[in-house]
Amino acid sequence: MNHEKIKNDYIKKISELKKLNKSYYQNNQPLITDSEYDSLKNDILNLEKKYKFLNHKDSPSKIVGFKPSKNFNKVSHKVPMLSLANAFSEEDLLNFEKKIINYLNQKKDFKIEYSAEPKIDGISASLVYKKGKFITGLSRGDGKEGEDITENLKTIKDIPHKISRNDFPEEIDIRGEVFIQNKDFKKLSDKFANPRNAASGSLRQKNPMDTKKIPLKFIAYTFGFEKGLKIKKQTEFLQKLSLWGFRTNSLNKLIIGTKNLMDNYNYIENNRSELDFDIDGIVYKINQFDLQKRLGFVANAPRWAIAHKFSANSGVSKIIDIDIQVGRTGALTPVAKINPINIGGVIVSNATLHNEDEIKRKDIRIGDTVLVERAGDVIPHIVSVDLKKRKKKSQEFIFPEKCPSCNSKTVKEFNLITKKKDAVRRCSSEGFECEKIAIEKIKHFVSKEAFNIEGFGKKIVENFWNLKLISLPQDIFQLDYSKIEELDGWGRQSVLNLKYSIETSKKISFDRFIYALGIRHIGLENAKLISKHLRTSKNFYELSLENRVEDLLNLDGIGETQINSIRNFFSNKTNQKVLNELKKILSIDNFIEPKKDGLLRNKTFMLTGKLNGISRAEAKSIIEKNSGSIISNVSKKLDFLVVGDKPTKKKVDRAKELKVKILSQSDLLKMINMTS
Ligand code: IVH
Repeated sequence: MNHEKIKNDYIKKISELKKLNKSYYQNNQPLITDSEYDSLKNDILNLEKKYKFLNHKDSPSKIVGFKPSKNFNKVSHKVPMLSLANAFSEEDLLNFEKKIINYLNQKKDFKIEYSAEPKIDGISASLVYKKGKFITGLSRGDGKEGEDITENLKTIKDIPHKISRNDFPEEIDIRGEVFIQNKDFKKLSDKFANPRNAASGSLRQKNPMDTKKIPLKFIAYTFGFEKGLKIKKQTEFLQKLSLWGFRTNSLNKLIIGTKNLMDNYNYIENNRSELDFDIDGIVYKINQFDLQKRLGFVANAPRWAIAHKFSANSGVSKIIDIDIQVGRTGALTPVAKINPINIGGVIVSNATLHNEDEIKRKDIRIGDTVLVERAGDVIPHIVSVDLKKRKKKSQEFIFPEKCPSCNSKTVKEFNLITKKKDAVRRCSSEGFECEKIAIEKIKHFVSKEAFNIEGFGKKIVENFWNLKLISLPQDIFQLDYSKIEELDGWGRQSVLNLKYSIETSKKISFDRFIYALGIRHIGLENAKLISKHLRTSKNFYELSLENRVEDLLNLDGIGETQINSIRNFFSNKTNQKVLNELKKILSIDNFIEPKKDGLLRNKTFMLTGKLNGISRAEAKSIIEKNSGSIISNVSKKLDFLVVGDKPTKKKVDRAKELKVKILSQSDLLKMINMTS
């Protein structure tokens, strides 16, 4: 690779990091997960290590945090607030120790004493005390200058305003972490992604009275400037802190040797979910201050300390309960309710257990200590059980024989293709008769690929169901809007928007209508096949009345399983009622053979944002009728991104990056000569 390219790549990463820092530190808004952030930061540091010609004033090797916000006065730290280097494995720890021994010119068997302190995942603050009086409190800011948040910090009960012990130094900056306990975070969890954001957001309120409302805590662990501190070791300092009236971490320990550091690390990681605050690793500090002084600093971190981080995509927690969820097709899915745990910046309190067989195979029980993994956007799952931690009294989990929602019998079906019994157990009720299935069926009915009723999300379905506003799909089209307007969180405009989405959705293509019914084994593809074959919804209705479902057997892709499922669907009384009612309300388009040589042939499209006067579903079908095809993510294969009102910024940015053409609604209509 040539220098130019490496440099460009490096600068791009730095400006990405700057953007993320700004959002995170100034607006308390993380744009990516902590592990993604760490990996970007590591990439930059590794590039600098490998290519010595790289350097930048905004590099994470030079800066910590972000420059202070304009809301507060800036004040210089008398001694800068630094960052820590990270270790992720035992090997990293061995290297850390080796480097220290070399630097101090000691023999290989030199025993290093460490102060091992759980690393609280909060916001650091520096408290300036003069003659025992709390004078100024600063945030870290960019490490050199912090924000004056004295008044906000004074609202925290753990911070003493006056210390009158005579061994308290004449002047000292006490440094530590401001954080929020998990139990208190629960009340704020709809406003912030994780406890750290909640702490940061609360701490930097313009009005200290707003900070006071939030039960913030402070744990002290180090000092900055000092005059008159007569102590030789970090562990002694921690003891003094607690005598002076500061809260310290009860899990702090004095440890010798990397093997013992590992044991302590594993112990704390395994018991992390029992703590009522988030920690994201353990900080190790060389205990003797004289050695710390000799070791000094590299760039913006001390040579005498390191943060041993926990895994960013997994964590240990305990199963509090096992819930059985009932899906749209009646499948019973066991979900483990676990002690909430912060995995890479995301709070995880549920983990899927997949199915009955999986529970049996892994012998997962309520009360078990388990390893939970969360990768990307996939639902977290349980990797393994720590059998050593299992209580003697623990009992095998018995999967329910009856549906937990409607009490119907549950069955494991025989799969015609695999010639085996399914791993999944299902509720044998006929659909809308089971409450949980009915709710899921309505969610499916309004979903994107089906009726695509914008603003009618899953939460709203549940809410309307509980308020008895809906119980069957047709109820959606006969809502009492005056009642909705009175509900919490609704206003005139939002009700008008909902009404508009519902009204526009009444005109629907035939294939989407079939798909929306949620007949088992009839997904989008099969719905398309059936609509193409039957052409009109009238034919579909006749098929149901005349019991001629077998006619569909001629279609490629429709087999016995699908036929049985459609027949079952039609024979159910509630479904018949739903079909009859919908017939009266909807305007279902006949199937239109997409033109192969239409104006949009060989072109791919994607839609984002709200369109004007037509639903997204209709726009998609217009594109398809003109031989264009729809794809579901922005990639090099995409030719056009059609942008409506309030588009997803990420999609637009990505499209610009890939030089995908961006169209407005009217640009699109012009392309097919439907100028508005
Ligand atoms: S010592 C030069 N001790 O971790 C020493 N930091 O990445 C730097 N932290 O900014 C701080 N617990 O916000 C230290 N026991 C502890 C800590 C701790 C949490 C945070 C702190 C710091 C960051 C370093």
